[in-house]
Amino acid sequence: MTRAAPVRPVPARRALLLLAAAAALAASPARAGEIGKNSPQASVIRGSIVFNTYCALCHGSSGEGDGRAARIYNPRPANLTVSPYNDDYKELMIRRGGEGMGRSPFMPPWGDQLSDEQISDLVSFLRSIKVPDAKVSDAKASETKAADATVSAARASAARLSDAAR
Ligand code: HEC
Repeated sequence: MTRAAPVRPVPARRALLLLAAAAALAASPARAGEIGKNSPQASVIRGSIVFNTYCALCHGSSGEGDGRAARIYNPRPANLTVSPYNDDYKELMIRRGGEGMGRSPFMPPWGDQLSDEQISDLVSFLRSIKVPDAKVSDAKASETKAADATVSAARASAARLSDAAR
């Protein structure tokens, strides 16, 4: 027998995000009903849509690593609200996937699937759901340093590649 899935309330953080978007709209000096296309809020809202389309199945719609398919993966999809990594690392992780970053291949690469704008909107969205002052353990902090070194090395090799292609 299969049980009906429990109805889940809208996650509090997402509700807050929508409220914030509504407040931004109300306070906006521009015409009512308009958020500037290039504004940070617009990027976050677009990012949340991309995230819910492609990422929520694993990472959960509020990014806490509790998506519908999360428990079939080991390691589990990361809780992105407390991720210790910086924007550059997240962008590379999204483009190259876990395997391309020496991590789990269960995190797929999206570089060929999503546009540059979608990827930068995702990074804006991830910034918006980050819990401020999330406690970062020493172990995570040194992992982050190692990750930064990976990012610089990746940049350097990308630069070499594009030089070579000239
Ligand atoms: C099929 C499941 C799956 C999907 C879909 C998926 N991820 Fe992941 N993701 C993972 C797993 C598993 C990890 C952890 C990898 C590890 O720890 O080695 C991860 C890790 C990450 C990380 C690293 C964060 C950290 O703190 O370690 C980021 C950033 C990330 N995912 C973003 C995304 C985004 C954005 C999308 C949608 C475009 C996405 N993921 C879609 C499974 C998934």
